[in-house]
Amino acid sequence: MSILPELERRFRRALAPVEEDPDPLLAMIRRSQDPKFGDYQANFAMALGKKLGRDPRQLAAEVAGRLSVDGFCQPPEVAGPGFINLRVRDDWIVDQLTAAIGDERLGVPAVAEPKTYVVDFSAPNVAKPMHVGHIRSTSIGDALARTLRFAGHRVVTDNHIGDWGTQFGMIIYGYRNFCDGEAYGQNPVGELSRLYQLVRRLIDYHAGKTRLAPLAEKLAGLESRLAEMHAEAAAEGKTGDKRVKKAIHRQQKDIDEAREELGELRAKLEAVEQDPELSKLAAEHPRIGQSVLGETSRLHAGDEENRRLWREFLPPCLAALGATYKRLGVAFDHTLGESFYHQRLRPIVEELIAAGIARESDGAVGIFFEGQDAPMLIRKKDGAFLYATTDLATLRYRVEAWQPDAILYVVDFRQSLHFENLFAAARRMGYERLELKHVSFGTVLGEDGRPFKTREGDAVGLESLLDEAVARARKIVEENDDAKPGGAELSPSQRARIAETVGIAALKYADLSQNRDSDYVFSYDKMLAMNGNTATYMQYAYARVRSIFAKGGVDAEALRASRPPIFLNTPAERDLALELLRFGEAVDYCLKDYRPNQLTSYLFELANCYSTFFENCPVLKAETPELRQSRLVLCDLTARTIQKGLGLLGIDVVEKM
Ligand code: ARG
Repeated sequence: MSILPELERRFRRALAPVEEDPDPLLAMIRRSQDPKFGDYQANFAMALGKKLGRDPRQLAAEVAGRLSVDGFCQPPEVAGPGFINLRVRDDWIVDQLTAAIGDERLGVPAVAEPKTYVVDFSAPNVAKPMHVGHIRSTSIGDALARTLRFAGHRVVTDNHIGDWGTQFGMIIYGYRNFCDGEAYGQNPVGELSRLYQLVRRLIDYHAGKTRLAPLAEKLAGLESRLAEMHAEAAAEGKTGDKRVKKAIHRQQKDIDEAREELGELRAKLEAVEQDPELSKLAAEHPRIGQSVLGETSRLHAGDEENRRLWREFLPPCLAALGATYKRLGVAFDHTLGESFYHQRLRPIVEELIAAGIARESDGAVGIFFEGQDAPMLIRKKDGAFLYATTDLATLRYRVEAWQPDAILYVVDFRQSLHFENLFAAARRMGYERLELKHVSFGTVLGEDGRPFKTREGDAVGLESLLDEAVARARKIVEENDDAKPGGAELSPSQRARIAETVGIAALKYADLSQNRDSDYVFSYDKMLAMNGNTATYMQYAYARVRSIFAKGGVDAEALRASRPPIFLNTPAERDLALELLRFGEAVDYCLKDYRPNQLTSYLFELANCYSTFFENCPVLKAETPELRQSRLVLCDLTARTIQKGLGLLGIDVVEKM
């Protein structure tokens, strides 16, 4: 049983006579910061007192008097201006833990009213390699799907891959013009991704060329305006004026930015021009951008040859994707990519027009929203459909196929406006009771604080990221093993297997432990640290428990079956016990606003409590055999909770490290 929901339930009853809408007040029941104030503290009396015009202390005493916590907490205490302090009874803690020993779910109840969730995550555009950005959607989405399932909900995961977009026009064009047949025969995906990069560079080159002159002009304009500003300030004797200085400063900043942009663009163009092969290709394919669009439209229009190429390219791309997912331990119930909805686009646009939800404007079709200048376009002037059209068709399909109560879209924050519009459109289509949520996330940054890129300026490939993390994990595993007092214990193949698990875990956990809205700086050293809020630390805590069991020759199954009495005689033992009972709370918090970092924070606190316990309470050498059993049970529950918690995050443990 989870403590906080139980407290909320009981407070709800105690509050009923004085407050109709207790939810905001119940949200003010928290863990106490200081054990002096018990384990949990309710802080609502001040707010409620103000609202009702009553003395908060009196009010707190009244509510506390009505609160029934017999057998669960010590009698509540009112302190300070009106805090209600609660201390959970030790015998209650022991009962709950004892029940958890024999429970797969570790005492966490399933939700009373299961819902159906569709989780849309990962969704890379195929035919180009997955990159660092995909780690976020993939890890967060997978963690949420697992946690929702554990909570008792029905979950449908759907990988909405981009398998119908411009990138196919690009590789079709690349294949026709630049393909190395032998390389393609040996490794089609490798060759296709080379073609993708090549075509991308050539398109960027020509687009960059046309941007060069306007950008240089803009910079010159900014510079001459700055000179004018200086001259004017001098002429008017205002060089010391605060506002003038500020304006000049701002102007200078704009100039710096434009100069940087121009510099980057020039460097990019030069890189192509200085490469004889590339510059030749660039010269030979001046209209490559247009041609690629043409290939994409022909694919969409049903051109035989382009369809055939698409059918040829897709399977190896999907297989490569599948290999990466396998390595990441991620699976999907469905992979219904954009191409799946191709034939549903025309009908849905027509239907939306007929229903008066979308209308024509200037030859295009859009859904217009009040207070917004630009509509959400669903058909272009030339008849082409858009990302939004596909998403509307996808939404409709999901509702019909799976009858969800909620759809979560785990997608980069840059698409916020798209989802806002999509959800508003969905409400107009009548999906008012469906929870639609953009589970948005920030950018992965390099150590320089800018989006994480390779030296060539490309996004870092996901596979190389995994390889590097695993290689570094391998070093740590080896060093650890070599330093063991009794000498190294692991065979080379064990080391390799552990390194793979530890490396990938570190990468996922580093991502999941961030507030998903924030950007974060990618650092191998930090993510693989043996101490701190890392998967490595947690896996180590787990392996340490297992090694205690091995060392003491303790059979975990037999220990569990014997249900030995649990003693909470020291603060370290009691803290650990209480923390173990907070697992369900952490799951609730995680799902409240779809934030896996609520779970990682919990696991980190649990591992810290365990660490304190371990330093203060001898286990195998406990004073009595009964105490030894009791402490072993606490160790075992800790290990199981870590394992389960990491499992909800899609992270494995290792028995040895
Ligand atoms: N393929 C898209 C991209 O790479 C993400 C798709 C997200 N899901 C969705 N239903 N729009 O940006």
